[in-house]
Amino acid sequence: MNIEELIAYGQAPEDASQVVEWLEKRGRTFGVFVDGQWVQGERVFSTVNPANGNVLASITQSDESTVGQAVAAAQRALPAWSSMPGTERGRLLYSIARAVQRHSRLFAVLETLDTGKPIRESRDIDIPLVARHFMYHAGWSILSERELNDFEPVGVCGQIIPWNFPLLMLAWKVAPALATGNTVVIKPAETTPLTALLFAEVCAAAGLPAGVLNVVTGDGTTGRLIVEHPDIAKIAFTGSTEVGREIRRVTASRDIKLSLELGGKSPFIVFQDADLDAAVEGVVDSIWLNQGQVCCAGSRLLVQEGVADRFLDKLKKRMATLRVGDPLDKAVDMGALNSPAQLERVLGFVTEAEAEGADVYQSPCELPQGGCYFRPTLVSNTEPASTIAQEEVFGPVLVSMTFRTPAEAVAIANNIRFGLAASIWTQNVDVAHDIAAKVKAGSIWINSANSFDASTEFGGYRESGFGREGGREGLQEYLRPKTPQAASSGMAGFIAPKKSGVDRTHKLYIGGQQVRPDGGTSYQAHGQDFARANRKDVRNAVEAASSAQPGWASMSGYQRAQILFYLAENLSAARSLFLEAGYAVSEFEAALSQVLQFASLADKHDGSVHQGPTRTLVYTRPEPFGVMGITLPESPSLLSLLKSVAAAIAGGNSVVALASETQPHAAVGLYRVMEASDIPAGLVNLLTGLQSELLPHLAGHLGVDAVWHFAASGAETARLESAGNLKPVWIETPDWTAPDGRLWLQKATQIKAVWVPYGA
Ligand code: NAI
Repeated sequence: MNIEELIAYGQAPEDASQVVEWLEKRGRTFGVFVDGQWVQGERVFSTVNPANGNVLASITQSDESTVGQAVAAAQRALPAWSSMPGTERGRLLYSIARAVQRHSRLFAVLETLDTGKPIRESRDIDIPLVARHFMYHAGWSILSERELNDFEPVGVCGQIIPWNFPLLMLAWKVAPALATGNTVVIKPAETTPLTALLFAEVCAAAGLPAGVLNVVTGDGTTGRLIVEHPDIAKIAFTGSTEVGREIRRVTASRDIKLSLELGGKSPFIVFQDADLDAAVEGVVDSIWLNQGQVCCAGSRLLVQEGVADRFLDKLKKRMATLRVGDPLDKAVDMGALNSPAQLERVLGFVTEAEAEGADVYQSPCELPQGGCYFRPTLVSNTEPASTIAQEEVFGPVLVSMTFRTPAEAVAIANNIRFGLAASIWTQNVDVAHDIAAKVKAGSIWINSANSFDASTEFGGYRESGFGREGGREGLQEYLRPKTPQAASSGMAGFIAPKKSGVDRTHKLYIGGQQVRPDGGTSYQAHGQDFARANRKDVRNAVEAASSAQPGWASMSGYQRAQILFYLAENLSAARSLFLEAGYAVSEFEAALSQVLQFASLADKHDGSVHQGPTRTLVYTRPEPFGVMGITLPESPSLLSLLKSVAAAIAGGNSVVALASETQPHAAVGLYRVMEASDIPAGLVNLLTGLQSELLPHLAGHLGVDAVWHFAASGAETARLESAGNLKPVWIETPDWTAPDGRLWLQKATQIKAVWVPYGA
């Protein structure tokens, strides 16, 4: 017998009888889990096994009253849960982690039947990571009094998750929320509700108090009811960018915390010196994991020209060996797509690409009859701007392109509205870390792909969303500072600037120069004329900020610190200018001390290093958003301007600030000082005028990457207008005098996690 015969393929199906028994025992009918009870709904729908079309169970479609009951239960449970000692909460989370491990086979088989993903993945990836998440967060809960003492839970959290990693996405959301003392109403996706329902049973058995976790089922209309519920304090959503954008808009009028983990179209970059065979395996893990239904799938293959033919050749050979089949079979590489609708969507993308002239290669493997199966697919000969190269297919479809130089690789990688992840293959350390720094994405895998761990932050740049899950940063999504921050407390001594003796019309400050407003108009504040900026001025300011930002961001923290110290020095020298304009000594001193705080922190806002799962180090770097739009309050006009500008630029951003409308003198004073400092032209742009006129243009501008809105009115406009490119918005009434620079720098940056495997 030769080796091929010895290792010939034979089906190795996992036994599903335990799941069948579990389903049968419940009559294949499920209510929702509210206040520790199972409540049967009137309207139901079916959840189906996408591998064969068989109905698995009947599920409740939750209506407004059910969602209302769930939120009310979560509210009632909140006081006791949030005040429970962290150790006790931690013990419960630990029990849940252990229970997930004990029932891991039941969970894995159930997940595979409901999603269509191979049992190998649910058994070896999804469920172990779920246990890991609860264990990791049990630890944070136990440490919370020591490590998180300055924070308190947000309240009732509404969590909406997709169908690609149903239980894992639940764990990513529920574990940090409960660890930090919040209560939860979670909705699994309509096509994959079963493991969430089993999880609710497990939590009840583990002794989780009633109401702490509520699971409601239903489609997008149920999701929307959660989003719209006025008593929800935080929404955590994972799903499509379209729905994420809608959620941003629907919640615009409310002061809630929001984190969005959305779509992606991540580059998989292969340099010519890469270990090509390893990179081929990387592609398999990257785009054919979970049939490509992975938000961070490496769906855009960029290969350096010199090795492109060889690489694609190797890849096609490997594709020919991939096996698509019954997800319960332990020997398949790919199972079924999640639903007929998803199958149709994927097919639509490939058909369109073919019609546009792209080359389509598919694995020659046999597909089982019936079921939502699709072959591993490679699309080449396309333009980087084509639909297939730009849109998230969310299926087993890889699009390949070539590049010549590292700079071109970065340009193509970043030529996309998303920014979730990237995979970089090279044996050259310099190239690896250089490209890792330049690609705009939240997770970078060097010579690896699709690695995850509870200790490491995950989340997007750009339209892939905002907020992080995992790690210390992930906890912050469920916390807020303990002391309610009173806006102008301690500001009593800060008086309004007085009218100066000399009449003059102040200008705008754009691109390092004083410029007249485009419309040639002015407005009056405190008896003086100030330039009244318009939309065009906003656009010019954003353009100037965009050109200045990359150079500023590429400076070392030390260089930025020196420039900020010099700014503080010049401010100090211009003291009389501000005092003569009417600013109180106390406000001036407070503002100066804030600039000094950020000068001091500019070279100390570092990332961290985690030990990854096996032989992997993960380093995180806080990176600037890019261009920040900032609106300032009436008072304290000088302190607020200096604190926010110093914080934003210390984090590596450039700024377009709308000065206090009634007290714009601070802006005029600041640009005079900046003219004598080393602040690069265009880094800080200051506009005066009517905020209500300017805010929609600033918050809606696609060149603005993040917004800090501190003005008293306009919060809804800021949130609403930011939905276009899904920029994060921080709306706050800060304690302007507080020494809370680290918190501000967190708000000025986004975490990038770079995974570096090692081994000789
Ligand atoms: P989706 O974004 O509609 O669904 C995700 C979750 O949101 C589900 O629980 C759904 O019930 C809920 N939902 C839907 N509409 C809602 C609304 N208006 N308000 C609140 N919740 C709502 O994703 P869908 O339709 O299942 O998939 C369509 C495409 O979205 C996929 O082909 C894929 O491209 C993308 N997608 C991306 C995901 C990611 O992780 N990046 C996950 C799921 C889908």
